[in-house]
Amino acid sequence: MPVIRSFSSDDYEAVCAVWTAAGRETLPRREITDPSLMVVAQDGDRVCGVVMGTFDGRRGWILRLAVHPQHRRRGIATRLVAELGARLRRIGCLRANLLVLPDNAAGLAFWQRLGYLPCPDVLCTKPLV
Ligand SMILES: CC(C)(COP(=O)(O)OP(=O)(O)OC[C@H]1O[C@@H](n2cnc3c(N)ncnc32)[C@H](O)[C@@H]1OP(=O)(O)O)[C@@H](O)C(=O)NCCC(=O)NCCS
Repeated sequence: MPVIRSFSSDDYEAVCAVWTAAGRETLPRREITDPSLMVVAQDGDRVCGVVMGTFDGRRGWILRLAVHPQHRRRGIATRLVAELGARLRRIGCLRANLLVLPDNAAGLAFWQRLGYLPCPDVLCTKPLV
């Protein structure tokens, strides 16, 4: 059974390997702004899953969830999100949001299974540089 634990800076390369194996872009170290809201899954000596959170004082965001393809459908993502949710609640966060690409049917199925439901808001964005 994989262990769910806090990210440490020594995990950075292994976490990037999980993101890459899961087809997700890696994140520069400097963008890991709140390591206390970053949770990893470790199976043996190998990091096999990761999720990252942020909290702006009102809303939480769940970002960068990925489980290595060889470790899927074992409940690892569910456990990662439960741990992050508990951490967010402890710091006063009452609602968490996340974004899913519209063609990510598996991702959407996963989130809906956990009760994270689509809402009608439209994401607006603009580069500031
Ligand atoms: C989405 C992802 C994180 C799920 O990880 P996981 O550890 O396999 O998920 P879990 O085992 O906790 O799945 C829990 C439930 O979610 C649903 N689910 C998970 N993967 C699914 C899939 N590929 N298709 C349909 N439903 C799925 C199922 O209901 C599953 O329960 P079950 O296995 O008893 O049927 C993983 O597939 C992944 O890393 N995908 C690539 C990255 C990504 O899409 N991240 C999320 C984008 S926001």
